[in-house]
Amino acid sequence: MQERYQAVVLGSSGLVAQRLQQRLMHHPMFTLSAVAGSSERAGSALLDIPWRLDDPRPQFPPLQIADIHDHGLPQRLFEMGIRVAFSALPSEQAQTLEPHWASSGIAVFSNASAHRGKEGVPLVIPEINSHDLRSFGQVGYPLACATNCTLLPLILPLAPLNQTFGLTQVKMRSEQAISGGGYRLMDEINELKHQFNSEIPGEAEKTAAELKHILAWDGPISIRCERVRRNDGHHVFVEATFDHAVTPNSAKACLEAWNASFMDQSHPSAPIVPLHIVEQIDIEKHLFSDGLSFEDAPNPALDLQAGMGVVVGAISCPNPHTVCFEGYSHNTLRGAAGGVIYLAELAASMDLF
Ligand SMILES: NC(=O)c1ccc[n+]([C@@H]2O[C@H](COP(=O)([O-])OP(=O)(O)OC[C@H]3O[C@@H](n4cnc5c(N)ncnc54)[C@H](OP(=O)(O)O)[C@@H]3O)[C@@H](O)[C@H]2O)c1
Repeated sequence: MQERYQAVVLGSSGLVAQRLQQRLMHHPMFTLSAVAGSSERAGSALLDIPWRLDDPRPQFPPLQIADIHDHGLPQRLFEMGIRVAFSALPSEQAQTLEPHWASSGIAVFSNASAHRGKEGVPLVIPEINSHDLRSFGQVGYPLACATNCTLLPLILPLAPLNQTFGLTQVKMRSEQAISGGGYRLMDEINELKHQFNSEIPGEAEKTAAELKHILAWDGPISIRCERVRRNDGHHVFVEATFDHAVTPNSAKACLEAWNASFMDQSHPSAPIVPLHIVEQIDIEKHLFSDGLSFEDAPNPALDLQAGMGVVVGAISCPNPHTVCFEGYSHNTLRGAAGGVIYLAELAASMDLF
């Protein structure tokens, strides 16, 4: 029988922390054995922490939030058998806490941006650059990062198009959900009746750098990111130029062939296929794609594939070397908690911890 790893979630009341807790409740490979939160939350029962997701709060085990800033905690948890940590920390906290936790021997998989792209810390999207996980631990401790949530609906379609047609240039504009900015921003905007500041400082730069890193590509790129009034789901509008001539049919055939190469994968959080190709994206109906179907209101605690597919639509070619498409994906599932757990499933299957 497959080994189940005991896991700790770093973060107790945040949107991504709660997605992680939710997805670990019935996970076949990982057990939610501890939650470490800010000093403000430490000592509270997990069941008493305000629940921020729309789905029902799962029947959590009777855990008490540990203080993430307790220096000796990672070592004690390691000695108790905890082998994996999923981090949903703010970047400033992740900067020092993630290496400290990983130095105890616990394998840390992070949603924070602090260590993305750092030499010896793999920055990986399982379908695209799983080979980069081979450097796991090379920095001296076991730490790997998932990417920025905005990158997913852009790069998943772009990766196979690049392989086939040779990417020369990318332009992207995004419309991003407010949950992407954390629970405080989401509450604040939902309470506001009037306009809010739609800028997302630093998001375009992060997305461009991570795209170049993952694709090992260094062409011209122009990105504009904007927040819109919607709780979940990042929608991107892409214009990509290629070396080789391309038509809407050859672009679709390329994406479908790439999809077909994933049909046999068995990681619990992998979508049935990565790209869900549609004529037009419907941001209401297409939020929870599993790659092949759209569920209305799935329970992500039970259905690990819902919300893990990237929806691709409106594929067109304004000229023989340019493809325009739209991408759409769930930012706290595929773009955060689901994506980072998928990464850990992959690392476990490669015997990396
Ligand atoms: N939201 C998304 O769509 C998304 C997507 C990809 C990546 N991310 C990244 O995931 C991380 C979490 O994002 P989020 O949206 O969940 O944010 P959030 O809803 O604002 O939650 C913030 C989290 O940070 C923790 N925290 C705050 N101050 C802390 C401190 N001084 N020490 C230790 N922990 C502290 C909180 O822990 P307690 O609850 O224990 O107080 C809470 O879990 C961020 O790095 C973000 O960039 C988010």
